Amino acid sequence: MKAIRLATPGGLDRLSLVDMEDPGDPRPGEIRVRLKASSLNFHDYGVVSGKMPTEDGRIPMSDGAGEIEAVGEGVTEFEPGDHVVSGFFPKWQDGEAAVADFKTTPGDGVDGYAREAVVRPATWFTHAPKGYSHAEAATLTTAGLTAWRALVVDGGLNPGDTVLTLGTGGVSIFALQIAKAMGARVISTSSSDEKLERLKSLGADGVINYKTTEEWGKKVLDLTDGRGADVVVEVGGPKTLGQSITACRIAGHIALIGVLTGRSGEVPTAALMAKQQTLKGLIVGNRRHQRDFVRALEATGVRPEIDSTFGLAEIADAFRHEESGAHFGKICLEI
Ligand SMILES: NC(=O)c1ccc[n+]([C@@H]2O[C@H](COP(=O)([O-])OP(=O)(O)OC[C@H]3O[C@@H](n4cnc5c(N)ncnc54)[C@H](OP(=O)(O)O)[C@@H]3O)[C@@H](O)[C@H]2O)c1
Repeated sequence: MKAIRLATPGGLDRLSLVDMEDPGDPRPGEIRVRLKASSLNFHDYGVVSGKMPTEDGRIPMSDGAGEIEAVGEGVTEFEPGDHVVSGFFPKWQDGEAAVADFKTTPGDGVDGYAREAVVRPATWFTHAPKGYSHAEAATLTTAGLTAWRALVVDGGLNPGDTVLTLGTGGVSIFALQIAKAMGARVISTSSSDEKLERLKSLGADGVINYKTTEEWGKKVLDLTDGRGADVVVEVGGPKTLGQSITACRIAGHIALIGVLTGRSGEVPTAALMAKQQTLKGLIVGNRRHQRDFVRALEATGVRPEIDSTFGLAEIADAFRHEESGAHFGKICLEI
């Protein structure tokens, strides 16, 4: 069986395609999945580039989608032939947040899905949306579920609300698509005018170039008659949070998700307090959220925006493409 392994201390030239032992048959409670696709996230880039150190020989990639080849004794939720997608926190099945690190996350604390087959507890996967390709399903584990949780689970999105998304990465494009499907109005930013046009074609009602409009928070207020966005999908971090607070309405919700501009910094706490906004950190979601999300995708017909697809052996080129920032939406691997 083919797999990708990452040698320490990491780096795109430290990824290699190797032969490894077949995982064999599932034991009671387990499933065997023929993996067919994965998708790239900023987090996976952190791991493979060596910025987030992991064990020598780690199999990268948190997202995995494929087809069930066999089920172990006692597994009733799945049967051979089912299309499934992996979960980001295999041990967080339901209930309030229970994990604050990546020790159990495939592709980081444990081996991930850059491989042809895996045997895992059935609870590490959910069904994929009906009619989705494996590459489409692979985009749900991290980016899709994060956008869903930010908007729906934590943000309590309602039809007619205004959502603000930042940039055109996997999480933000998913958030735009989910928000539009749920009847919200969306304002989106990007550093590229060309990408702003693509955002409009996906349904964005207002677009702002955050490079040429430094005070984009005020621009969001202009576009909402001074009210501000109800929910902000904050993937930027310290250097964008101040503008996000400006852009968000009084008593609005800011989902603090990303570290694109750094891991710590100054926050205008008085403005946040005065506007009585909720600032809530989140890391992806649990298995219950993923099942609800899959059901919502089937009902709304939302299909992920896939920028490009690479073969498993071209994984380093796929990450170079992500590193370049040229992508719009998700970059996938086909296995
Ligand atoms: N907390 C969680 O659960 C969770 C889950 C997934 C991701 N994340 C985090 O969310 C962030 C995005 O992840 P991703 O996988 O969607 O990344 P990605 O696909 O690599 O997207 C990167 C995009 O972000 C945009 N960007 C870069 N700097 C920006 C800035 N200063 N302001 C606004 N947009 C900016 C760029 O869009 P343009 O080219 O259009 O400018 C770029 O293409 C990362 O920090 C990641 O770690 C967190």
